[in-house]
Amino acid sequence: MIFFDEQNQLFHMTTPHTSYIVGIEKGKYLTHLYWGKKLASMCPENAYCSNNLSFSPNPDREDKSYSLDTMPQEYPASYMSDFRSPAYEVQRQDGCLAGEFLFERYEILRGKPTLCGLPATYVEDDSEAQTLLIYGKDGVSGLDVILSYTAFAGLDVIARNVRFSNHSGKTVTLNRALSVNVDFPAGRYDLLTLPGAWARERHVERKPLRAGYSAIGSRRGASSHQQNPFMALMEADATEDYGNVYGFSLVYSGNFLAGAEMDPCGGVRVQMGIHPDLFSWQLLNGESFQTPETVLVFSGNGLGEMSRTYHKLYRTRLCRGKYRDQNRPILVNNWEATYFDFDEEKILRIADEAKDLGIELFVLDDGWFGKRDDDTTSLGDWKEYGKKLPNGLKGLAEKVQERGLKFGLWFEPEMISVDSDLYRAHPDWAIQIPGRVPNEGRNQLILDFSRKEVCDYIIETVHNVLAHAPISYVKWDMNRHMTEYYTPMLEAERQKEMGHRYILGLYRVLEAITSTHPDILFESCSGGGGRFDPGMLYYMPQTWTSDDTDAVERLYIQYGTSMVYPVSSMGAHVSAVPNHQTGRITPLAMRADVAMSGNFGYELDLTKFTEEEKEEVKKQVATYKELREFVPKADLYRLKNPFEGDDASFLFLSQDKKQFFLTYFQIKGEVSYNYRHLKLKGLEEEAYYRCEETGKVYSGAELMYVGLMVKKNEECCGFRDYFSRTWRFTRIA
Ligand code: DGJ
Repeated sequence: MIFFDEQNQLFHMTTPHTSYIVGIEKGKYLTHLYWGKKLASMCPENAYCSNNLSFSPNPDREDKSYSLDTMPQEYPASYMSDFRSPAYEVQRQDGCLAGEFLFERYEILRGKPTLCGLPATYVEDDSEAQTLLIYGKDGVSGLDVILSYTAFAGLDVIARNVRFSNHSGKTVTLNRALSVNVDFPAGRYDLLTLPGAWARERHVERKPLRAGYSAIGSRRGASSHQQNPFMALMEADATEDYGNVYGFSLVYSGNFLAGAEMDPCGGVRVQMGIHPDLFSWQLLNGESFQTPETVLVFSGNGLGEMSRTYHKLYRTRLCRGKYRDQNRPILVNNWEATYFDFDEEKILRIADEAKDLGIELFVLDDGWFGKRDDDTTSLGDWKEYGKKLPNGLKGLAEKVQERGLKFGLWFEPEMISVDSDLYRAHPDWAIQIPGRVPNEGRNQLILDFSRKEVCDYIIETVHNVLAHAPISYVKWDMNRHMTEYYTPMLEAERQKEMGHRYILGLYRVLEAITSTHPDILFESCSGGGGRFDPGMLYYMPQTWTSDDTDAVERLYIQYGTSMVYPVSSMGAHVSAVPNHQTGRITPLAMRADVAMSGNFGYELDLTKFTEEEKEEVKKQVATYKELREFVPKADLYRLKNPFEGDDASFLFLSQDKKQFFLTYFQIKGEVSYNYRHLKLKGLEEEAYYRCEETGKVYSGAELMYVGLMVKKNEECCGFRDYFSRTWRFTRIA
């Protein structure tokens, strides 16, 4: 709910448990008064005390105590009287960079408007949310600025974005246009982010915030493996289950900045949006610029509750299409089974085994097109490779279908190999700097998706493949991030628009392809989780979480990913041992138990299983078919954090709270421990739950406060390395 308190001159937005309050001062300045646990009302003078520190310039000659430098601002302009980082910077034709955000009027709407050309959370019915539009003007450039806030009625979510419109009569340039700014009062805070690397994505890092600017971001043209467009500001005493946590998640797949600046008085300014380093946007008179959306989630009960809010929102009001609410098929992917070395016969042998094991979808990965025997060639030539597939894709897909499996296909549509017919025909379609030899990454270049004709060509080419073979699933990969930002299509002063124009082109392509093929399940990928972000989830409801398929590494990666992203969005496969990334040998049971915490599948040569392993796999497949009825949509409780010890544990509570799935993993074995208690969370104290494996019945209180006893391996003197156990419980009273 959103209302304007005329007397106190403030906007009060509420969600089920939170309030977000913005004030208007002197009829023109927007102040950030509060965001946190729900309030009935607020006295604006209680939010902060106007003061003018030495050296702070004074915007008001009548009131010398007044300073924007110490004011908690809602959307601060640049270089006038606030020395902290601005939320936007607009340059006039004369080069002037100073700005001044001045309030003009507001509007409150039912529902949530869509964002033109950009992914965003949505509502299905106007009763699900209200949106506040605050109209302001930049006093120096004359640019109109509209701040948009959507407060969700059923979730503790405030979604924000900003739109700039130029009606000044002159051309201006935006050098910085962040989606969000929140000025927090002085306090002790920690920052939680999800740094990583290829095959080590989204590890959890928490560090105390100190004076100055702390930032993460990406300049790689993609949201990246190295950082994720997510940041949580945590009050220093907050934990997984306790305390105030403020989440910021950017619905965008390109370059981003997330920063937190602690000012000299201990106040903290958090900002998020498109990275200003490789960005600028020229606005002719009459033109507009739309920022991506940032999704703000407050939790008064620690990180766990923040994550569950993001999960529910992203699963139900960001992901779209037929598969949003549907069970996902259990797949086998041939990448780690064959890499590039396959032919139709080999594929069909794997498909035969898959059918026998109960697997439902076969996914043909890289190497099916052009003359692709390794990664040096053919990206862009999306026609089947006759040497490997003599009966074409259609022939293979039909044979896979005859075996009772669906057929899926890998693509990397944004890329181009120098050794390809496409490059020979259109070398200028590849991103490169004229007169210089381009840097290849994984032997490939990127197609210039900032160009309309390139996007149109890709839409048509991908469509032709999808329309001419029975394809039920697409894995959309991207294995080179962006360098050499340059496009011949833009004038010199507009070159910094290219990174964002690429993403807008990509989103247009994704919208066209996914809406033309609504029955296909799309999974995005960028060398694993190099573009695991909310922007991609809007078009494709799942992402290949990481190229690291080792069960132990996956515990860390999936734990970190679960900070923001729902179980239903994470691809997780059982792979061979020794693992191809780490060389680690883990039991088949553990590999499956870890993969069942995501969209389950296999990525190994099924024909190499022993008879005994086949029986085990059949049981795993049958188990997952039951689990997927509720696990992907479950409320996730993280019970044990692998970053803090040698074990990990997750509880997946069904939405109706009538059943849950529980996992426990001991990573490094421990001798001379016979048992331990695993304290569960999220249950009802008074309710009774039956363990399906043992038939024993426990009260919710007992499971949460005494815990469930986990016993050591019978054959060992303790818990062995890579010990894993899972349980299913049903509520009986
Ligand atoms: C990177 C992906 O993450 C892998 O799963 C696989 O599809 C390869 N690319 C293929 O080149």
